Amino acid sequence: MINIPKGTKDVLPSESDRWHYIEDKLRRTASLYNAREIRTPVFEHTELFVRSIGDGTDVVSKEMYTFEDKGGRSITLKPEGTAPVARSFVENSLDAMSLPLKMYYITPCFRYERPQAGRLREFHQFGVEIYGATSPYLDLDCISFAYDALVGLGMKNIVLHLNSIGCPTCRKRYIEALKAYFEPMLGEMCGTCKERFERNPLRLLDCKSPVCKSVASGAPKIADYLCDDCRAHHDKLTSLLTSRDIPFVRDDNIVRGLDYYTGTVFEFVTEELGAQGTVCGGGRYDNLIAEVGGKPTGCVGFAIGLERILMLMEKQGIDFGEERPCVYVMSQSPAQADECIKTVARLRAAGVSADTEMTGRSLKAQFKYADKIKAEYGVVIGESEMESKQIKIKNLSDGTEEECALGDLAARMKEKKNG
Ligand code: HAM
Repeated sequence: MINIPKGTKDVLPSESDRWHYIEDKLRRTASLYNAREIRTPVFEHTELFVRSIGDGTDVVSKEMYTFEDKGGRSITLKPEGTAPVARSFVENSLDAMSLPLKMYYITPCFRYERPQAGRLREFHQFGVEIYGATSPYLDLDCISFAYDALVGLGMKNIVLHLNSIGCPTCRKRYIEALKAYFEPMLGEMCGTCKERFERNPLRLLDCKSPVCKSVASGAPKIADYLCDDCRAHHDKLTSLLTSRDIPFVRDDNIVRGLDYYTGTVFEFVTEELGAQGTVCGGGRYDNLIAEVGGKPTGCVGFAIGLERILMLMEKQGIDFGEERPCVYVMSQSPAQADECIKTVARLRAAGVSADTEMTGRSLKAQFKYADKIKAEYGVVIGESEMESKQIKIKNLSDGTEEECALGDLAARMKEKKNG
């Protein structure tokens, strides 16, 4: 037997309706926010991710699935969706459309990480990117979008953590202060932090090791280093969030793991999923479009991890609804099989989901099967039904029956379905 690669998962037929439920709800929220779907390839030129995410980040330095294709090009499976959307925006001159432009995607992502519950090597994101302005109203719209998407899925106990990591100018001063603070204590800190000290010092703030966490608790706060513009932007955003009744906590340790962020950064976090409790992450990235060859453009976005959402929804006992066939058409004997096939074709043409017997089983076995697939109604076609052209529609949950002309079945079921 050949096994599935480590860190990947099948979505089995018994689970796929949960995915449909989540995806449908997210698409509905996207439509409420006037966002349009964008689809980009599963792989891109490696250079795109190196330039946008940054070669000092864990994602680029350790986690990318990179390979040379037969033409000798370096190709990478997308580790996230933001950089590909930025590439597409520039390449397709989407700035010629009316801005702001709101885009969303549902995509697989690939990161070579140590797999554990809620951390996979292939996972899926629902992402949103809003392009075209630097105003804090765009940040509000983006965070509201994520909030409404999560609330719309019925989840509870998710907290919004908010921070500003400033613009490159104020961040430079902050990083100097941060390095001066951490340097004398580096000896006590973990190997990853020692490495990050030079490569990506902001990440020293979000190490999960207890020793590093306690050292980081006394570090200088970015809030004390923001320039006037970044401070005013952040203050306006927090007052907008308050007036929209979106609760948040200010969290100086939210720095995000990707280099393109500027100013606003945020995460939605739950305590119910252990170490992988971040269900959504995002922020502003005003320099990315210029970095990939376009004109400077204000941008803000987020991505929700769908596997984590699914885990949390299951944990919180959220009702996903269920996809089940409406009618199961049974044949008393193989002699009625052709009529059954015609009947399900008429039902399907009327928009009613239906299925029928195809294996020559006994009527008893067909009823058992109808029960297993959770069909709502059962219809038996036998010799007498063929003759009289009258059938009985049986409600399989309460056992009640009603008479119907065979020729009217599709219309009757359509009526029932539409309430
Ligand atoms: P990210 O924080 O790297 O941000 O990922 C977003 C979400 O994807 C995480 O909050 C988490 O729920 C999920 N996720 C990340 N890695 C894994 C994994 N290995 N297994 C399972 N789930 C995972 C981004 O990717 C940015 N592109 C978000 C963004 C969009 N920023 C602006 N626009």
